[in-house]
Amino acid sequence: MTDRLKDRVALIIGSARGIGKGIARRFAEEGARLVLADTEDGAGQATADELAVPFIHTDISLMADAEAAVALALKQHGRLDIIVQNAGIYPWQLIENTSADDWDRVMAVNLRGTFNASRAALVPMKAQGFGRMLYTSSITGPHVTSPGHGHYSASKAGINGFIRAAALEFSGYGITVNGVEPGNILTEAIELHRGAAYIKNMEDSIPLGRLGSPRDVANAFLFLASDDASYITGTTIVVDGGQLLPEGNDFRLLPP
Ligand SMILES: NC(=O)c1ccc[n+]([C@@H]2O[C@H](COP(=O)([O-])OP(=O)(O)OC[C@H]3O[C@@H](n4cnc5c(N)ncnc54)[C@H](O)[C@@H]3O)[C@@H](O)[C@H]2O)c1
Repeated sequence: MTDRLKDRVALIIGSARGIGKGIARRFAEEGARLVLADTEDGAGQATADELAVPFIHTDISLMADAEAAVALALKQHGRLDIIVQNAGIYPWQLIENTSADDWDRVMAVNLRGTFNASRAALVPMKAQGFGRMLYTSSITGPHVTSPGHGHYSASKAGINGFIRAAALEFSGYGITVNGVEPGNILTEAIELHRGAAYIKNMEDSIPLGRLGSPRDVANAFLFLASDDASYITGTTIVVDGGQLLPEGNDFRLLPP
């Protein structure tokens, strides 16, 4: 621990488990004062209890919930320095089996949730003249994709576009806006919904030879939240173990 976020107030949305829980743990290690938000009350409260911080039930697809989460951070700590909008859903569904409602739900959480978090945090951050808005994007959408990720890919590519637009609009307010693009990260959700064969296949396609951990992603968020990133805005960091690098799937073959 080096106190890289000492006394910074951070609201982390989608922090009950997985990557968001990893971000919460990492930020807590570095001295941040946290508020956690999620739709899952049991797991969310358990994570909050582990870190001895407040938790608020939040569906980030709803603007009123985003505003209530920001209001709690302000009530608890008097300011809001960092917001991380990490909540995201990734149903595995071919386009031909996706209904308009399925599409709208993914967009509501992943993309409108990003807008909602940004709008809600803008008010105090603009008044303070300081803020760090951070979003979980993905390599899926902005760079690559696979069957069953039509809505998800569109939502994550949309987040990257929003990051650039918001970074530009908020640049005069002392607010930076950035994101992290995880590759394949081993979380409970991936183990549950994708299974062992998917995970083995992914391991074989990652040059560093393993899926990432929530902590790997959290370290990139930590950098972007810290003072070390004060001159960085409107961009994303890929955290994928080199998965985007190979031209083909024979990348372990070497010339004779
Ligand atoms: N795991 C990966 O390999 C991977 C790769 C790239 C991007 N991502 C992105 O990282 C983020 C976290 O993924 P994860 O694998 O940890 O998933 P996860 O399902 O374990 O965690 C997501 C969290 O968000 C919460 N959440 C879902 N809908 C919400 C809503 N409407 N409002 C508030 N909270 C909500 C969930 O309850 C959960 O705690 C997502 O945005 C996902 O798209 C994950």
